[in-house]
Amino acid sequence: MLLLRSILLGVALSSVLGAQAASATTRATRLLERPFPAKTLTLAAAGNELASRREALASRIVRGVVVLLSHEKPADVSLMRYRPDSNVHYFTGVDSDPVALVLTVADGQLKSQRLFLPPESASYALWNGKRVVAGAEAAAAGGFKPEEVITLAAPRGRPGTGWGVLEAAVSEGLKLTDGPLFLDNLGPLTQRTATEGTKAALEVRASTREDSLRAHFRMLRPELKVQSVGSAAGGLRAIKSAHEIALIEEAADISGEAMRVMLANVRPGLYEFELMGMCLGVYFERGASGTAYAPICASGPNACVLHYDENRRQLEAGDLVLCDVGAEYGRYASDVTRSFPASGRFTAEQKHVYETVLAAQAASAAALKPGASFNELNNAAMKVIKDAGFNPSRVLPHGVSHHLGLDVHDPGSQKLVPGMVITIEPGIYIRESNIGVRIEDIYLVTETGSRCLSGNAPKTVDEIEALCTMAR
Ligand code: GLY
Ligand code: MN
Ligand code: MN
Repeated sequence: MLLLRSILLGVALSSVLGAQAASATTRATRLLERPFPAKTLTLAAAGNELASRREALASRIVRGVVVLLSHEKPADVSLMRYRPDSNVHYFTGVDSDPVALVLTVADGQLKSQRLFLPPESASYALWNGKRVVAGAEAAAAGGFKPEEVITLAAPRGRPGTGWGVLEAAVSEGLKLTDGPLFLDNLGPLTQRTATEGTKAALEVRASTREDSLRAHFRMLRPELKVQSVGSAAGGLRAIKSAHEIALIEEAADISGEAMRVMLANVRPGLYEFELMGMCLGVYFERGASGTAYAPICASGPNACVLHYDENRRQLEAGDLVLCDVGAEYGRYASDVTRSFPASGRFTAEQKHVYETVLAAQAASAAALKPGASFNELNNAAMKVIKDAGFNPSRVLPHGVSHHLGLDVHDPGSQKLVPGMVITIEPGIYIRESNIGVRIEDIYLVTETGSRCLSGNAPKTVDEIEALCTMAR
């Protein structure tokens, strides 16, 4: 059913591109056939899940003060939607700006937590609509007590100047714990010396809000240790909850449908950007929150460029096309790659390479179970590639796995445990033959092995050729 629906949509979409005889009316009819909404998933994590994440962070950092700050939303018109910082989203559930979270931790326990949010603003509402403001609603949504949500004094101010209430909470926490101060997004501080005309040696040019805050508290307490919250937060984010898995699975399903539409419409003469347009069309028709990264629609020689994103070339007969695309749904990424023939059928050489990569992916997936490591997955893929007569160090210049979650390259460890979500993406790239094949899927590590979350994208040679030739 899903296949049929996707194929109909694919044919219908191509009408817009002028490739088929179908009319725009047909396309609209086809879209209405899709159940609406496709799935009713709650996008926001529940308040109690957010509260547990903060408690778990406290147990990891043991002692100190954690401050998470949103990055500043540009006041002027920007082409891109504001994307919250992944850690801010993960620990507060708030996606707008400004938001600040201050946690005071001692003995592995949360001694206090404060969420700072702006007050209502008529001028903000006029230009941008609603944003999350301090109050009972925000407290309930984030799993806070009402008194733990505080109004920021100066909504657009920077810590160190207008954010007095925030500084007071940090000072109080530092008094109780004596540090360290845990921050995210720490850039290198530019330290200027007195000889450059400044009063203090420790004067810094700060590029982020975190840098401003760090500079401010280093002035007050030169002995203060400042550390990145990255590894403690990343360790938690690596293990996905059922809610997170559901969002990733929906994102992967959308990417799979996008892949089907591209396969059903591919032909020589098409431009790479037309494939990208079909792909993005499916994302947004299905309620994606965006694209997890710039889509890679690479044909012929471009398929050997690992992160190619120009997408301007016209497909030629006999080309192999590599599409590495990922919808983002409810802020969660997906990351799926398929390689397919522009003319509908693989040549003998392309097929041999494709089937080798497919077997390499199957070998890595078979090795995926609790306790396995990225190295073992890599080695399993390399062995298949070597046994097929290729030199892995020449034809496969990248690792085969990474964690996936709020970010397409999510934080996480080498060792794999249940609840982790990773990709497996071996490839073979042979420039002399213009053959670039990568096959990428998303896997959840389970108690006994793994489960593929991106099964909606066709994968065997037969499935791919059937879809690529169906409209010819
Ligand atoms: N699409 C980026 C990656 O596969 O890592
Ligand atoms: Mn990937
Ligand atoms: Mn990818």
